[in-house]
Amino acid sequence: MADPYYLTTAIHYPNGRPHIGHAYETIAADVIARFQRLQGREVRFQTGTDEHGLKMAQKARELNMTPRQLADEMSQYFKELFDKLNISYDRFFRTSEDEHHRASQAIWSAMEANGDLYLDRYEGWYSIRDEAYYDESELSDGEGEEKLSPQGTPVEWTVEESWFFRLSKYQEPLLALYREHPEFIQPESRRNEVMRFVEGGLRDLSVSRTSFDWGVKVPGHENHVMYVWVDALTNYLTGLGYPDETPEMAKFWPADLHLIGKDIVRFHTVYWPAFLMSAGIALPKKVFGHGFLLNRGQKESKSLGNVTDPMELADKFGVDVLRYFLLREISFGQDGSYSAEAIVTRANAELANSFGNLAQRTLSMIFKNLDGNLSGDYSAEEADVALEATVNDACRNLLPREFEALNFSEGLVEWMRAVFACNQYVDEMAPWALRKTDPERMAAVLMTLFRQIRTLAIAVRAVIPASSDKLLDQMGIDANSRDFAALDDPDWFGRLVGSGFTLDKPEGLFPRLELPSEEPA
Ligand code: MF3
Repeated sequence: MADPYYLTTAIHYPNGRPHIGHAYETIAADVIARFQRLQGREVRFQTGTDEHGLKMAQKARELNMTPRQLADEMSQYFKELFDKLNISYDRFFRTSEDEHHRASQAIWSAMEANGDLYLDRYEGWYSIRDEAYYDESELSDGEGEEKLSPQGTPVEWTVEESWFFRLSKYQEPLLALYREHPEFIQPESRRNEVMRFVEGGLRDLSVSRTSFDWGVKVPGHENHVMYVWVDALTNYLTGLGYPDETPEMAKFWPADLHLIGKDIVRFHTVYWPAFLMSAGIALPKKVFGHGFLLNRGQKESKSLGNVTDPMELADKFGVDVLRYFLLREISFGQDGSYSAEAIVTRANAELANSFGNLAQRTLSMIFKNLDGNLSGDYSAEEADVALEATVNDACRNLLPREFEALNFSEGLVEWMRAVFACNQYVDEMAPWALRKTDPERMAAVLMTLFRQIRTLAIAVRAVIPASSDKLLDQMGIDANSRDFAALDDPDWFGRLVGSGFTLDKPEGLFPRLELPSEEPA
């Protein structure tokens, strides 16, 4: 049995409804989770909401709600979105759960026992929007007196009694980590940024607040709540049962991958490993900071009026179309852009006209010309063998290799090449013309195609799970034999033929999409 695989997304502030960026990250994570399951690994996939902190407290006040009411209401929208997008999470985590308070206090106590926490006074620049402190040297001028963080959010001068974490002590251990495990921070450009930041020296980090109480109480100092990032990051452990020595902790920690946005790489690759080293807990294996998703090249914002509801996008174009588009269009790790035109163009060209059409015309011919019957005894010609080799190479080698490296777009290009090869084969073999002249050869061609379509559907199943399964259902493929191991089973076709399975009239997978005539920006 392959190694277990633990994968997490960032947990999101439920201070408003989810936006397209949340959908993007979670879809990508889901593709990874499903891909690893298809490879036979036992996967644990966690996502959720980050419910504490000043930002939540302030938003709730603004709306005349308690932070808990706000979190309850908004986290539901995240969950609904993820369910809609067919996200196969094993755990939807909410940091306001009691068990999480206990876990955060446990990691705190472990850091304290290691001598890494001390009480002092904090004075500095704080951005509520980012829930982050910044150094004076990192700030830029905004309008009037306003100062802005590197993320462009307003910062305020803050003075209060605070607990500090001895981050300075971890400069060398962190640099050693990055050197010994170059794969820890990905992509490479983010690794360079982080290394430069740490090489510049680390200041101790303020890790508690006294000015509000929506958070996890500091053990023994109940007038302090933990800095939201201390408890937020701990979610990755709590979800496995930490601080108890549960079977899940034993099996899944350390995490294989924390998938996050590029704006929070510092928290995950500097603070988080330092906290873990301090608490004596093993470090995650990889942190990947993906890029931002832009709407026609622009960041979505209320002031620009270009905020897209991801639910609507999924309704309009289809969940699988959206999933495929995001992974195929954007080079993973980099910023990417989307628009209705780009989605429609991509979906029509690759899903409807290429893959969908290949499946539809092949299955239709089997249905019409062979009464839906498969036939096991045909002799394969050179072209058949060559096509099978091309498809197998794409689906069994190239796509998995690229997906393993999180190069989704490249992996899908390989897959699409195999789809093209199949369509070219159909055109060259012209099975419709063989019907009268050489029915035996027609059957051989259609069986060859049937076999390749199964391979293609299984290989892309992580990306478009519902469509792949709909196709594989129609093809009579056993629901438990739809993974990469099944592709290595030489007897599947003989068994399927032997079972007497016959195809019904096939149903199309991807309707051709039209551009909504009046497309709001
Ligand atoms: N809520 C944070 C943000 O949106 C992300 C927290 S990820 C965590 O920026 F796991 F560290 F909590």
